[in-house]
Amino acid sequence: MVISASHILSSTDLSPSETLHLLRLASKLKAGERRQSLQGKTVALLFEKPSLRTKVSFQVATTQLGGTSLFLGPDEVGLGKREPVADVARVLSRMVDAIVVRTFAQETLEEMARYSSVPVINALSDAEHPCQALADLLTLFERFGFDAEGLTIAYLGDGNNVAASLALTAAAVGVSFRLASPPGYELPIDVSSQVKARASASGASFQEMQDPREAVKGASTVYTDVWTSMGKETESQKRRKAFDAYQVTTSLLDLAGPSCVFLHPLPAHPGEEIEKGLLDDPRSIVFEQAENRLHAQKALLAELFDGS
Ligand code: NVA
Repeated sequence: MVISASHILSSTDLSPSETLHLLRLASKLKAGERRQSLQGKTVALLFEKPSLRTKVSFQVATTQLGGTSLFLGPDEVGLGKREPVADVARVLSRMVDAIVVRTFAQETLEEMARYSSVPVINALSDAEHPCQALADLLTLFERFGFDAEGLTIAYLGDGNNVAASLALTAAAVGVSFRLASPPGYELPIDVSSQVKARASASGASFQEMQDPREAVKGASTVYTDVWTSMGKETESQKRRKAFDAYQVTTSLLDLAGPSCVFLHPLPAHPGEEIEKGLLDDPRSIVFEQAENRLHAQKALLAELFDGS
């Protein structure tokens, strides 16, 4: 299958069948299937925010697919400051075969994509984190099997970039999604209506609520992310207060289904969004989830290039 979108800026740039196909391929690549889809190709990583998992997983994925990667970190390029976004896109796309971008505004990605003649991939923006969501669903399906029937993710906390891509991806592949967030921190309305449309097409359910205990009841997965995302540090005090009742604790996990697992995109802040020690709870599979960034992105890169 060749992915139909030229750029992956949002989880909605992958159709439900493409998403499922990538997850199955990721699972095969993890099991040892080899692809050399990036032979002779170069992938640029242009990052305006810090990164561990995303940077390393994209670079290793590129190497394992036979390609070369180069990393341009915060302060190196001056995207939109030293040089207009459009010019950076036009220069890079004459030299490399894909541009993986971590930035603030979604509009920056859209502008890059408009001027780039090679695929642009969202490696996290303020609005979405589509590659993370692929790894998250891979982790879930590995644990529970690829039949999504009866699977529910309970996401507690900020209706942020991670929540948006996770909800869109889960709904696409038939996994039900409950989001519990305090007033003012819900998913953006346009995302919420896209999730609803995807869920009604796949037969999954989608519910938004405030009570974290109600959200986790019977869930197969409890998921949370930081309360203060990168770039929002000035709000951290206000956010700590707003999210105080949303900390994921072992007793909250006890309210979920008997085989429930805990996921977090990392880095975590124990004592804030999670109780101290929670990453070491036997229900936590966050390091498996982190590893799956590699397999999911490898599948994405392989399918973007095979046939091109
Ligand atoms: N929501 C977090 C995710 C980090 C992987 C952030 O944007 O900082």
